[in-house]
Order: sequence, then C-alpha cells, then structure tokens
Amino acid sequence: MKTKHISLITLLIVIKSLAFANTNKSIADTSAHGRVLLDTDGKPINAHGPGVMYHQGVYYLFGEIKNGKTWLVPGQNWEDYRVPAGGISCYSSVDLKHWKYRGIALKSVVNDPGNDLDTGRVIERPKVIYNGRTKKFVMWMHIDKNDYNYSRGGVAISDSPAGPYQYQGSIKPNDQMLRDMTLYKDEDGIAYLIYSSEDNNTMHVCLLSDDYLKPTTTYVRIFENKRRESPAIFKNKGKYYLITSGCSGWSPNAASYAVADHVMGPWKEQGNPCKGSNAEVTFFSQGAFVQPVINKPGAFIFMGDVWDKTNLEKSGYLWLPLNFNHDKIEIYNP
Ligand code: DGJ
Repeated sequence: MKTKHISLITLLIVIKSLAFANTNKSIADTSAHGRVLLDTDGKPINAHGPGVMYHQGVYYLFGEIKNGKTWLVPGQNWEDYRVPAGGISCYSSVDLKHWKYRGIALKSVVNDPGNDLDTGRVIERPKVIYNGRTKKFVMWMHIDKNDYNYSRGGVAISDSPAGPYQYQGSIKPNDQMLRDMTLYKDEDGIAYLIYSSEDNNTMHVCLLSDDYLKPTTTYVRIFENKRRESPAIFKNKGKYYLITSGCSGWSPNAASYAVADHVMGPWKEQGNPCKGSNAEVTFFSQGAFVQPVINKPGAFIFMGDVWDKTNLEKSGYLWLPLNFNHDKIEIYNP
C-alpha cells in the first residue's frame, strides 16, 4: 500500500476535531478521519486490528501494539511483512472520541520462541466480551507463527475490563485453522467466534461454550471458497450484518457484506457497502470492527486499519460513520 504523507494541516484538523469533540453531535462528528488517532495524552493510539467492548457506560478499545522495525519473512510467496508483536493495548472512552490509555491489557514476552505470546509471533485482532455468569472478561485473538500456518485462536481472561488479562492458551477450533477473527455476543448472552479458516478459503462461525472459553462442535462454513477475511459483525433491527475484506495481505481491497437472520446463517451476500471514490479499496483501509453508538439506534462506526505494510508501526486508522439506506449499508469517506 502506498503511504501518503499526512500534512501538518491535516494532522492539526484531526487533533482539533478530537480535542473539541461534543458528545451531543451527530454520528458524523464522532468519526475520526485520517491516519493518526491521538489519545487523551496526545500520543498516537497504538491499537491495530481493533475491537471495542462496551461495559457499564464505558467503551474499551483493544488492539495490536505494533512497535519496531518491519521486516519481510524470507521464503514466502506473498508479502509477509512482520513487526514485533507488542501485545494488546487498551484505551477507554465514554464518547468514542476521547480515548484514555489504560495500559497493556495482554503483555507479549521476549526471547521465548515456544511461547504463543513471544514478540516473534503473530498476535492479531483481539476481541473482548464479558461473561455475566462467570464475571470474567474474555479475550480471543489470532495467534500465529511467521508463516501463518500455526493458525490458532488464543484466549485470555481478566476480572476487570482493562486487564491485565491472563493467557489461557490457544486452540484450533474443531481442528480447523483460525486466522482473522472476531467475537460476537448476542443479546441472549450466547457468543460466537467467526474466523477465516481452511487456509483463508472459507469462514467458520462457531458457537462458544457457555463460559466463552472454548469452541463447541457446533459450527457452520460460510462464504465457501470466497477467500474472505477481517470479519466485522453487528446487529440492526433484528438482522445480523457481516462485513469482510478480501485476501490481499496488507494491501487494501474491496469490502463486501452479508445479511442473516441468525449468526449461524444462512448469510446472503450484498456486495460492497463502500460508496464513492476509492470504494473499491475500502478507501485504502481494511475493516476490523463495527461499533454501535450506544443509545443512538441505527448509528454505527466502521473501524478500519490503514496498513503501512513496509512500516507497520506507522499504520493508521479510518473510522467512518456507517449508515443505513433502508436495509442496505452505506459507508462514505467524506
Ligand atoms: C491480512 C489480515 O487481515 C491482517 O490481520 C494480517 O494478518 C495481514 N493479512 C498479514 O498480511
């Protein structure tokens, strides 16, 4: 992906819009446009491939910490750029606009190559949900090795939302590969793991155990041989929506979405939700999560990563309002 230089003026506009945010403004004003997002200390937010959990009036943002020099894994037939895995960060906000750094939710470890959390591993796309029965916050994430063939789901738990989280280990659900993933907890408390599987050819939706710590044997295969990744799911007016990207490494491609009456499907494909110029490359981003704006029915934020593949720690974000035109999703980059 070609890196655009962000001008000082653009940066100042972003800082100004965040600093003078008004929580009563429309959803369009609560989105962050551009590559740099700053926390309440004025430091760049380091939370890539993010997920958000809303708990007791607070939004918690979790993401991959990308720090250090990007390198290309030798001997791969694709652009396997890597950066040391810095663990998972946490930020909190009450308005989706002012994000306070809450520290490292899950630490990586150094010089322990056999450990899933070693800085040499892949620790991607963390998502957290709360289990009301066990009173635990449960984090799932994609754990991998440099060639992306380990393909497992890692699990960590905490008694408090921001962590620290204790790593429980990793698993291949039903002995199937797990790469890009997300979690979904429905209103009835039932939770699902949604992930790219079968070497990224087909996605799986797997019912989780009641404590959310294990996959069950109940799962479905969706988007068979369509090669979709970065799933982002949400619900509106009783229907489920699932936005995914195509598979092109760190380079942007066209998003697509599907609709269903149940998380387990059947999912009906609807095409690209992005509209306007550069819609075919998701405005140079890749979707990671869709966060409902609490207490604003029908208002959602599409949260995308703007990957800088040759300098991954400099990757940015594109957060846009997601609108409904009747029952169709529309995402514009104003
Ligand atoms: C695309 C995935 O969506 C990212 O999370 C990351 O794994 C890259 N591929 C690696 O190329």
